[in-house]
Amino acid sequence: MTRPQVFVTRRIPADLSVLEAIADVEVWPNPTPPPAQILQAKGQSIDGLLCLLTDPINQTVIRNATNLKVISQMAVGYDNIDSTAASQAKIPVGHTPGVLTTATADLTWALLMAAARRIVEGDRYTRSGQWQTWEPELLLGPDVGGSTLGIIGMGRIGQAVARRAQGFEMKLLYHSQTRKPDLEQSLGLDWVGLDDLLKASDFVSLHCPLTPETHHLISDRAFKLMKSSAILINTARGGIVDPQALHTALKHKSIAQAALDVTDPEPIPTDSPLLELTNLIITPHIGSASRPTREKMAMMAIENLIAGLRGDRLPYCVNPEIYLSQ
Ligand code: DGY
Repeated sequence: MTRPQVFVTRRIPADLSVLEAIADVEVWPNPTPPPAQILQAKGQSIDGLLCLLTDPINQTVIRNATNLKVISQMAVGYDNIDSTAASQAKIPVGHTPGVLTTATADLTWALLMAAARRIVEGDRYTRSGQWQTWEPELLLGPDVGGSTLGIIGMGRIGQAVARRAQGFEMKLLYHSQTRKPDLEQSLGLDWVGLDDLLKASDFVSLHCPLTPETHHLISDRAFKLMKSSAILINTARGGIVDPQALHTALKHKSIAQAALDVTDPEPIPTDSPLLELTNLIITPHIGSASRPTREKMAMMAIENLIAGLRGDRLPYCVNPEIYLSQ
């Protein structure tokens, strides 16, 4: 019997022996993603694909992948995968929900605190030899405690951020497609329309998926509604924020600061004008980057992959509708 062929698009923090016991596994050895033509060529011969959010698994890759039985993404977000095309081809798509909630909420909180208390600017100031004395007005920022946090998107990560904010006695507003009355009660949240959230929040934190509806949700118009003292945090997807509008808003101080773990595009081009701004913190998409979290994500991705190769239902599937018509 021929063994299934599997392509893993990067080295991942997992022991692959459980996978190698049932399949021939090729791991892309470079730290950067396989080029599109490699993905397409591999797609034609493989049974299973374990991919990352940097791999564009588009209609062309999916349509050419005539043997492909499973796409398993090592991430919770899957906007890089044309899941509609996968569903049409009856290919299950797996992802890794839940395990990265805590790590991502923690990084959100780290960015919020770092921006509010100007930690990155303070570090630069110290290292560049500018610290001469204690200054009453040096690197002043807003209070976090008691301020208003507006959370856009109230899934697992939005909720975990709200729980952290409770400890800081913040007033909590949220906006999401569907209202969550239970959470409003248990977390002390107020649902408001998007414009009202933008107008009233001292901190705005993004936790919605990137979809055609949320692409550039934070645009010139949104920045104009925000307080001039507001701080924007994005640990969701870069495409939710219009980078040009962000540049204008930060440069002209129509908001005070932003802290991003995700950019549009990724990586941010080294000549991006955003990198010249001192009121912006950028980290390289490390929201889930705690070792235990990444190991759990890798294990879940392997679990999904093995289930798909065996023809079993994926434990964490983004397009379960494919099983209805089978
Ligand atoms: C995800 O899983 O979608 C994050 O962006 C990376 O961990």
